[in-house]
Amino acid sequence: MRKKYAAGNWKMNKTPKEAVELAEMLKPKMTTDKAEVVFCVPYVDLIPIADVVKGSNILLGAENLHFEDKGAYTGEISAPMLKEIGVKCVVIGHSERREYFNETDETVNKKIFKALEYGLTPIFCCGESLAEREDGITIERIRIQIKKGMKGLSAEQAKAVVVAYEPIWAIGTGKVATTEQAQEVCKAIRDVLSELYSKETADEISILYGGSVNGGNAEELFKMPDIDGGLVGGASLKEDFEKIVKAF
Ligand code: 13P
Repeated sequence: MRKKYAAGNWKMNKTPKEAVELAEMLKPKMTTDKAEVVFCVPYVDLIPIADVVKGSNILLGAENLHFEDKGAYTGEISAPMLKEIGVKCVVIGHSERREYFNETDETVNKKIFKALEYGLTPIFCCGESLAEREDGITIERIRIQIKKGMKGLSAEQAKAVVVAYEPIWAIGTGKVATTEQAQEVCKAIRDVLSELYSKETADEISILYGGSVNGGNAEELFKMPDIDGGLVGGASLKEDFEKIVKAF
Protein backbone atom coordinates (compact mmCIF):
# COMPACT_ATOMS: atom_id res chain seq x y z
CA MET A 1 0.00 0.00 0.00
CA ARG A 2 1.42 3.35 -1.00
CA LYS A 3 1.69 6.04 1.64
CA LYS A 4 -0.55 9.09 1.92
CA TYR A 5 0.98 12.50 2.55
CA ALA A 6 -0.04 15.85 3.97
CA ALA A 7 3.03 17.92 3.14
CA GLY A 8 3.30 21.61 3.88
CA ASN A 9 5.58 23.74 1.71
CA TRP A 10 6.26 26.86 3.71
CA LYS A 11 8.12 28.52 0.79
CA MET A 12 9.95 31.74 1.80
CA ASN A 13 7.88 32.35 4.92
CA LYS A 14 8.67 32.46 8.65
CA THR A 15 11.84 33.59 10.37
CA PRO A 16 13.31 30.94 12.70
CA LYS A 17 11.45 32.44 15.66
CA GLU A 18 8.15 32.60 13.78
CA ALA A 19 8.74 29.10 12.42
CA VAL A 20 9.13 27.64 15.90
CA GLU A 21 5.93 29.40 17.03
CA LEU A 22 4.01 28.01 14.06
CA ALA A 23 5.39 24.48 14.44
CA GLU A 24 4.65 24.46 18.18
CA MET A 25 1.09 25.60 17.48
CA LEU A 26 0.54 22.94 14.79
CA LYS A 27 2.37 20.03 16.43
CA PRO A 28 -0.41 18.78 18.77
CA LYS A 29 -2.92 18.99 15.90
CA MET A 30 -0.91 16.83 13.50
CA THR A 31 -1.52 13.41 15.00
CA THR A 32 -2.79 10.86 12.49
CA ASP A 33 -2.08 7.27 11.56
CA LYS A 34 -3.48 7.69 8.06
CA ALA A 35 -0.79 9.85 6.46
CA GLU A 36 2.76 11.07 6.68
CA VAL A 37 2.86 14.68 7.80
CA VAL A 38 5.75 16.76 6.46
CA PHE A 39 6.86 20.32 7.16
CA CYS A 40 9.06 21.54 4.29
CA VAL A 41 10.62 24.70 5.63
CA PRO A 42 13.25 27.32 4.66
CA TYR A 43 16.87 26.25 5.23
CA VAL A 44 17.46 28.51 8.24
CA ASP A 45 14.37 27.10 9.94
CA LEU A 46 15.42 23.45 9.58
CA ILE A 47 17.57 23.18 12.70
CA PRO A 48 15.11 24.88 15.08
CA ILE A 49 12.18 22.93 13.61
CA ALA A 50 14.11 19.66 13.88
CA ASP A 51 14.04 20.25 17.63
CA VAL A 52 10.31 21.00 17.70
CA VAL A 53 9.28 17.90 15.73
CA LYS A 54 11.61 15.49 17.51
CA GLY A 55 9.58 12.58 18.96
CA SER A 56 6.46 13.50 16.97
CA ASN A 57 5.02 12.03 13.76
CA ILE A 58 6.02 15.15 11.80
CA LEU A 59 8.75 14.64 9.20
CA LEU A 60 11.20 17.42 8.48
CA GLY A 61 11.49 18.53 4.86
CA ALA A 62 13.63 20.96 2.88
CA GLU A 63 12.51 22.94 -0.16
CA ASN A 64 15.52 22.32 -2.42
CA LEU A 65 19.05 20.89 -2.47
CA HIS A 66 22.13 20.94 -4.71
CA PHE A 67 22.99 17.93 -6.85
CA GLU A 68 26.65 17.79 -5.79
CA ASP A 69 27.88 16.59 -2.39
CA LYS A 70 30.04 19.65 -1.77
CA GLY A 71 32.18 22.21 -3.48
CA ALA A 72 32.35 25.73 -4.86
CA TYR A 73 28.61 26.43 -5.14
CA THR A 74 28.14 29.64 -3.18
CA GLY A 75 24.78 29.83 -1.48
CA GLU A 76 23.82 26.20 -2.03
CA ILE A 77 22.97 23.40 0.41
CA SER A 78 23.87 19.73 -0.10
CA ALA A 79 22.13 16.43 0.60
CA PRO A 80 24.65 15.39 3.31
CA MET A 81 24.05 18.70 5.11
CA LEU A 82 20.31 18.06 5.10
CA LYS A 83 20.74 14.45 6.10
CA GLU A 84 22.90 15.31 9.10
CA ILE A 85 20.29 17.58 10.64
CA GLY A 86 17.47 15.05 10.31
CA VAL A 87 15.77 16.08 7.09
CA LYS A 88 13.68 13.24 5.62
CA CYS A 89 12.07 14.76 2.54
CA VAL A 90 13.02 17.39 0.00
CA VAL A 91 10.92 19.27 -2.54
CA ILE A 92 12.55 19.10 -5.97
CA GLY A 93 11.58 20.94 -9.15
CA HIS A 94 8.90 23.18 -7.72
CA SER A 95 7.46 25.42 -10.45
CA GLU A 96 8.69 28.50 -8.59
CA ARG A 97 12.25 27.17 -8.80
CA ARG A 98 11.77 26.29 -12.46
CA GLU A 99 10.41 29.78 -13.17
CA TYR A 100 12.74 32.00 -11.10
CA PHE A 101 15.89 29.95 -10.48
CA ASN A 102 16.70 28.18 -13.73
CA GLU A 103 15.64 24.76 -12.54
CA THR A 104 15.38 22.43 -15.53
CA ASP A 105 14.24 18.86 -16.05
CA GLU A 106 17.94 17.93 -16.17
CA THR A 107 18.86 19.54 -12.82
CA VAL A 108 15.69 18.07 -11.32
CA ASN A 109 16.83 14.62 -12.46
CA LYS A 110 20.28 15.07 -10.89
CA LYS A 111 18.75 16.30 -7.66
CA ILE A 112 16.39 13.33 -7.43
CA PHE A 113 19.38 10.98 -7.78
CA LYS A 114 21.28 12.87 -5.10
CA ALA A 115 18.37 12.91 -2.65
CA LEU A 116 17.88 9.16 -3.08
CA GLU A 117 21.60 8.50 -2.61
CA TYR A 118 21.29 10.04 0.85
CA GLY A 119 18.01 8.36 1.74
CA LEU A 120 15.98 11.55 1.42
CA THR A 121 12.49 11.26 -0.08
CA PRO A 122 12.25 13.51 -3.13
CA ILE A 123 8.91 15.28 -3.51
CA PHE A 124 9.23 15.72 -7.25
CA CYS A 125 6.99 18.48 -8.63
CA CYS A 126 5.54 18.73 -12.09
CA GLY A 127 2.76 20.83 -13.55
CA GLU A 128 1.53 22.71 -16.58
CA SER A 129 1.10 26.44 -17.11
CA LEU A 130 -2.26 28.02 -17.89
CA ALA A 131 -1.20 28.50 -21.53
CA GLU A 132 -0.30 24.81 -21.82
CA ARG A 133 -3.66 23.80 -20.36
CA GLU A 134 -5.49 26.15 -22.72
CA ASP A 135 -3.54 24.74 -25.65
CA GLY A 136 -4.65 21.23 -24.67
CA ILE A 137 -1.11 19.96 -24.05
CA THR A 138 -1.31 19.36 -20.28
CA ILE A 139 -0.81 15.60 -20.43
CA GLU A 140 2.04 15.81 -22.99
CA ARG A 141 3.80 18.39 -20.83
CA ILE A 142 3.46 16.30 -17.67
CA ARG A 143 4.61 13.12 -19.42
CA ILE A 144 7.78 14.87 -20.58
CA GLN A 145 8.48 16.23 -17.10
CA ILE A 146 8.05 12.79 -15.55
CA LYS A 147 10.17 11.03 -18.17
CA LYS A 148 13.00 13.57 -17.94
CA GLY A 149 12.85 14.02 -14.19
CA MET A 150 12.96 10.28 -13.50
CA LYS A 151 15.32 9.37 -16.34
CA GLY A 152 17.66 6.53 -15.38
CA LEU A 153 15.99 5.68 -12.06
CA SER A 154 15.58 1.99 -11.36
CA ALA A 155 12.17 0.68 -10.31
CA GLU A 156 13.43 0.45 -6.72
CA GLN A 157 14.55 4.09 -6.84
CA ALA A 158 11.31 5.20 -8.51
CA LYS A 159 9.30 3.65 -5.67
CA ALA A 160 11.08 5.95 -3.22
CA VAL A 161 9.98 9.08 -5.11
CA VAL A 162 6.84 11.03 -4.23
CA VAL A 163 5.41 12.86 -7.23
CA ALA A 164 3.49 16.11 -6.73
CA TYR A 165 1.24 17.38 -9.50
CA GLU A 166 0.92 21.13 -9.15
CA PRO A 167 -0.81 22.99 -11.98
CA ILE A 168 0.94 26.36 -12.03
CA TRP A 169 -2.32 28.24 -12.56
CA ALA A 170 -3.70 26.81 -9.30
CA ILE A 171 -0.74 27.74 -7.09
CA GLY A 172 -1.45 30.53 -4.66
CA THR A 173 -4.36 31.71 -6.79
CA GLY A 174 -7.23 30.26 -4.78
CA LYS A 175 -8.19 28.58 -8.07
CA VAL A 176 -8.12 24.89 -7.22
CA ALA A 177 -8.23 22.31 -9.99
CA THR A 178 -11.51 20.42 -9.97
CA THR A 179 -11.26 16.95 -8.47
CA GLU A 180 -11.77 15.57 -11.99
CA GLN A 181 -8.96 17.69 -13.46
CA ALA A 182 -6.59 16.74 -10.63
CA GLN A 183 -7.53 13.05 -10.85
CA GLU A 184 -7.14 13.02 -14.64
CA VAL A 185 -3.55 14.25 -14.47
CA CYS A 186 -2.59 12.15 -11.44
CA LYS A 187 -3.90 9.11 -13.31
CA ALA A 188 -1.90 10.14 -16.39
CA ILE A 189 1.19 10.33 -14.17
CA ARG A 190 0.52 6.82 -12.89
CA ASP A 191 0.04 5.65 -16.48
CA VAL A 192 3.40 7.02 -17.59
CA LEU A 193 5.08 5.50 -14.52
CA SER A 194 3.44 2.21 -15.42
CA GLU A 195 4.86 2.45 -18.98
CA LEU A 196 8.32 3.35 -17.68
CA TYR A 197 8.38 0.63 -15.00
CA SER A 198 5.39 -1.64 -14.40
CA LYS A 199 1.88 -1.37 -13.04
CA GLU A 200 3.09 -2.82 -9.72
CA THR A 201 5.78 -0.16 -9.41
CA ALA A 202 3.43 2.66 -10.45
CA ASP A 203 0.89 1.50 -7.88
CA GLU A 204 3.46 1.91 -5.12
CA ILE A 205 4.37 5.51 -5.96
CA SER A 206 2.54 8.21 -4.01
CA ILE A 207 1.17 11.02 -6.18
CA LEU A 208 0.09 14.25 -4.49
CA TYR A 209 -1.95 17.17 -5.73
CA GLY A 210 -0.89 20.74 -4.96
CA GLY A 211 -2.49 24.09 -5.78
CA SER A 212 -4.81 25.95 -3.42
CA VAL A 213 -5.52 22.89 -1.27
CA ASN A 214 -7.29 23.93 1.93
CA GLY A 215 -9.31 22.52 4.80
CA GLY A 216 -12.48 22.79 2.75
CA ASN A 217 -11.43 20.97 -0.41
CA ALA A 218 -8.82 18.46 0.81
CA GLU A 219 -11.21 15.62 1.63
CA GLU A 220 -12.85 15.62 -1.79
CA LEU A 221 -9.47 15.69 -3.55
CA PHE A 222 -7.94 12.96 -1.38
CA LYS A 223 -10.88 10.66 -2.09
CA MET A 224 -9.85 10.40 -5.75
CA PRO A 225 -8.24 7.05 -6.58
CA ASP A 226 -4.92 8.41 -7.87
CA ILE A 227 -4.49 11.31 -5.42
CA ASP A 228 -2.50 10.23 -2.38
CA GLY A 229 -2.52 13.52 -0.52
CA GLY A 230 -1.47 17.11 -0.92
CA LEU A 231 1.48 19.44 -1.19
CA VAL A 232 0.13 22.52 0.47
CA GLY A 233 1.42 26.09 0.39
CA GLY A 234 -0.62 28.86 2.01
CA ALA A 235 -2.89 26.64 4.10
CA SER A 236 0.10 24.86 5.68
CA LEU A 237 0.96 28.09 7.48
CA LYS A 238 -2.34 28.16 9.34
CA GLU A 239 -4.41 26.17 11.79
CA ASP A 240 -6.37 25.06 8.72
CA PHE A 241 -3.57 22.56 8.04
CA GLU A 242 -5.09 20.36 10.75
CA LYS A 243 -8.19 19.83 8.59
CA ILE A 244 -5.94 18.77 5.70
CA VAL A 245 -4.02 16.31 7.89
CA LYS A 246 -7.32 14.86 9.09
CA ALA A 247 -8.90 14.72 5.62
CA PHE A 248 -7.82 11.12 4.83
P1 13P B 1 -0.75 26.96 -2.49
O1 13P B 1 -1.31 25.85 -1.65
O2 13P B 1 -0.47 28.20 -1.72
O3 13P B 1 -1.56 27.19 -3.73
O4 13P B 1 0.70 26.46 -3.00
C1 13P B 1 0.82 25.21 -3.56
C2 13P B 1 2.26 24.89 -3.68
O5 13P B 1 2.97 25.48 -4.48
C3 13P B 1 2.81 23.87 -2.80
O6 13P B 1 4.10 23.51 -3.19
